Amino acid sequence: MKLSKGLVALALAIAAFALSALALLSFYIKSAPAPAETSKKVEIEDEDEDVELGIVMSHIQRYAEKLYFAGKAGNTPLAGFYLHELEETVEDLEQKKVVDDGIPVGEMAGAMLKPVFQRLRALDLKDPAAFEKEYLALVETCNTCHVASKHGFVKIIVPRSPTYQNQSFE
Ligand code: HEC
Repeated sequence: MKLSKGLVALALAIAAFALSALALLSFYIKSAPAPAETSKKVEIEDEDEDVELGIVMSHIQRYAEKLYFAGKAGNTPLAGFYLHELEETVEDLEQKKVVDDGIPVGEMAGAMLKPVFQRLRALDLKDPAAFEKEYLALVETCNTCHVASKHGFVKIIVPRSPTYQNQSFE
């Protein structure tokens, strides 16, 4: 089938219109404001480096969970390892003086959690009742700070079963 000159001209006009519309659209997309961030970065007093507090907290949650199963199994080296990971993570928040929504979360984390870590470290894991008691104190500390930092809806509990099925805590 042979196209008439008129039809070709029309097709060209439509193509040109579509192209300019596309260019306009891409310009709009580029100049449109960036979408709101889902995970907000928090201010740090001393450094330029940004800290994603939510991600740091998810690491704390993971180490705290693993600490529980290691401690319950009386596995001193493994419990010591997770305590160390917790200490390091909290020290980092403290050193960076992380402030979230005007709340000095970094300083608070150090002041509130370090004494509990020390007591957990001093425990003899052969005494499961003493471990349970101190672990409960840790969980209460997490929640006390969540309430104090307007995140009381994040409720931490003693873990029921291990998330990671591919790791032995024995
Ligand atoms: C110094 C105060 C403070 C302490 C202590 C604290 N948290 Fe948080 N936590 C926060 C704040 C503030 C947020 C909200 C972070 C955000 O805005 O993303 C949070 C959020 C969380 C979240 C939600 C993020 C997620 O990945 O689901 C979890 C889980 C969490 N904390 C676990 C813990 C655990 C477990 C402990 C105790 C071992 C703990 N936190 C101790 C202040 C604290």
